[in-house]
Amino acid sequence: MNAPVLAGLRLNVPPYVKHAKLIAWVAEMAALTEAQEVYWCDGSQAEYERLCEELVAKGSFKKLAKRPGSYLAWTDPSDVARVEDRTFICSETQEAAGPTNNWMAPAEMRELLQSGPNALFKGCMRGRTMYVVPFSMGPLGSPIAHIGVELSDSAYVAVNMKLMTRMGKGALDVLGSDGDFVPCMHTVGAPLQPGQADIAWPCNPNTKYIVHYPETREIWSYGSGYGGNALLGKKCFALRIASTMGKEQGWLAEHMLILGVTNPQGVKRHVAAAFPSACGKTNFAMLIPPEGFEGWRVTTIGDDIAWIKPDADGRLRAINPEAGYFGVAPGTNTHTNPNCMASLQRDVIFTNVALTDDGDVWWEGLSDEPPAHLLDWQGKDWTPVDGKVQGRKAAHPNARFTVAATNNPALDADWDNPQGVVIDAFIFGGRRSTTVPLVTQARTWVEGIYMAATMGSETTAAAFGQQGVVRRDPFAMLPFMGYHMGDYFAHWLTMGEQLGAKVPAIFCVNWFRKGADGRFVWPGYGDNMRVLSWMLDRIDGKAEGSANAFGVSPKYDEMNWTGLPFTRAHFETVTEIHTEDWKAELKLHEALFEQIGARLPAALPAVKAEIEQRLGV
Ligand code: GTP
Ligand code: SPV
Ligand code: MN
Repeated sequence: MNAPVLAGLRLNVPPYVKHAKLIAWVAEMAALTEAQEVYWCDGSQAEYERLCEELVAKGSFKKLAKRPGSYLAWTDPSDVARVEDRTFICSETQEAAGPTNNWMAPAEMRELLQSGPNALFKGCMRGRTMYVVPFSMGPLGSPIAHIGVELSDSAYVAVNMKLMTRMGKGALDVLGSDGDFVPCMHTVGAPLQPGQADIAWPCNPNTKYIVHYPETREIWSYGSGYGGNALLGKKCFALRIASTMGKEQGWLAEHMLILGVTNPQGVKRHVAAAFPSACGKTNFAMLIPPEGFEGWRVTTIGDDIAWIKPDADGRLRAINPEAGYFGVAPGTNTHTNPNCMASLQRDVIFTNVALTDDGDVWWEGLSDEPPAHLLDWQGKDWTPVDGKVQGRKAAHPNARFTVAATNNPALDADWDNPQGVVIDAFIFGGRRSTTVPLVTQARTWVEGIYMAATMGSETTAAAFGQQGVVRRDPFAMLPFMGYHMGDYFAHWLTMGEQLGAKVPAIFCVNWFRKGADGRFVWPGYGDNMRVLSWMLDRIDGKAEGSANAFGVSPKYDEMNWTGLPFTRAHFETVTEIHTEDWKAELKLHEALFEQIGARLPAALPAVKAEIEQRLGV
C-alpha cells in the first residue's frame, strides 16, 4: 500500500505549482502522515461540487432538497465547538505566551506531535486523502493579505475553505516560486486500517490539539474537524499567528466585524466592533436600520475578523481577511437578521442544525413554532414535545452555516478592496446581564483601551465548557491571542500614540442587560442602529452626551426613538451605573491585572484609579 513518496508521482503535483519549498513540505508531510493519496485543490467550482458529491456519497453530507446547492453535516458529539483547553501557544518561552494562554515548550510539543515514538501525526492519514489547500487571507495580491497552505485529510475542510477564503490556484499564483506562506497542518486524527469503512464524521473523540508555533509561524491541529479547530485560516492563522505578526510589524489582527454605515445625505463611515464569540458580530454587520432611519444603509465588510494597518496618511485601514461567514445559526431569523436569512437561500453548508422531513433545515429561533417532526443534529427523531418538555435542542447551540460573502445582499462595495476602509470608530461589547451600560464613549484612547482590556462577557456555546459564566475577555481576544496579553495592551497603546489626533473614537456597548423579569431590556438587532447613529453624532460633534464614571453616555433625548416605545424608565434600566455593582466589577478588573502581572502597562491601573475616584470608592 505505502509506496515510497516520489515527487511528481504519489504527490500528484500539478504542473502550475512552482514552489520548491512547498512541494518539499508536502512530500515531508505525506511521508509523516502516510496519506494514501495527495490531492491539490485548484479552488474551481467544478472541484467544489465534486468534493461535495463525494461527501454525500460517504454519508457526511445530506443534500438539501429545499435549498439549491446546499448541504447539511452532523458532527460527532465530541466535536461541536472550539476547545480552548486543548489550544496551545508554543512560543520558545512561556513568558512570551503570557498568563492567559496554554503553553508547552515547542520541543516537547513537536515530540508529541511529530517526532516522538508515538507521535500523533505519524501515520495519522493512513487510508485517507491529503488535500493541499492553498489560500489567501485577504484579497489576492493585496499588500495587506497573506498566504497560507493547509494540508488536511478532511474534504469537509477543503470545501469550507473554498467558501471562507480565496482558495486554490489563485493563491498559488500569488505565492510564485518562493513566496512566504504559513504552513497549516490538519488531521481529523482517525486513520483507517486497510478495509476499514469510514464514518460520517471522522475525528478523534479523545485527543485534540490545536497548536501554534508563533516564532516559526506554523499551525498543527489534531483530532477535530469543526470550525476554528479545523478551518485553520480563521482563528489559528488570521488571529493567533497574525496577532504576533502584527505586533512585530506594527498592525492589528482583531476579532472584529467591519461595517459601513451611510446616512441619507450619502456620507459614509466605517466602524469595527469586537464582541466575543456568539455575541452579535454577524448580526450587527448585517443590520437593517429600523423605522425612523429611512435612507440609512448598513453594509458588511466582514463579520468576524479584521486586519488593521495605518496608511500613508496616518489613518487606520481595515480589511476582512476572510471571504465567507461561518455564523451561528440558532437565533437567526427574518426578524433578527433578514440579510443573513437571504444569504442562506442557496449554496450553503450547514453544520449541526436539524433536518426537516421535506429536506430543509431548522434551528431554535428560526420560527416560533417548530415543525411537527425533525431529525435533530445527531440524526435522532425530534418533535416539539422533546423541546418543550425535555428541553432537548433540535440544533446544537453552536450549529453554524458556512456561506460565501457574495451571497450577502448587504455586502459592501469595498469588501474586496485591497486597500481596505478607513476606520472611524471601534466598538467593544460583551454579553452582560447586569452592570455594563448600553453604550458609553471613552473620553480618551487610553480610557478606550481600558474598556476593551477589562471587558467581561458571559461564556457561550462557541467554546466547549460551561456557559453563562462571566469571564474577562479582553478585546474579545482571550481565546485568540498569539502572545502575552500585557504586550498586546501595550501594542494598542503604542498604536494610539503613533496615530495621535487620527485615532478612531472608542465606544463600549452591552446589548444584553436584563430586567427583573430575566428578559433582555434592550430590543437589540435592528434597533442597535439607534445606538450606532448616536455614536456617529458624537463623532460629528452633534451629541453632547452625559459624562459618568465610565465614560460618556447618551441623554435620552439625543437618541432617535421613532417607531420604538422605549421609555425614559427603560432607558434608565439599561444605562444606570450602580456603584455597588461597579465596586464588584472593579475587583474583577483588579484580578485580571494581577493575572497579567508585570507586563501590564501602567496606564491601565491609572485609568482604574480615575474610575474609582469618580465613583467615590
Ligand atoms: P462568532 O461567529 O462566534 O465570533 O460570533 P458572532 O459575534 O458573529 O455571533 P452572532 O452575531 O452570530 O451572535 C449570535 C448570538 O447573539 C445569538 O444568540 C443572537 O441571538 C445573539 N444576538 C445578536 N445580536 C443581538 C442583540 O442585539 N441582542 C440580543 N439580545 N442578542 C443578540
Ligand atoms: C468563534 O468562536 O468566535 C467563531 C467560530 O467565530 S470558530 O471559527 O469555530 O472559532
Ligand atoms: Mn468569532
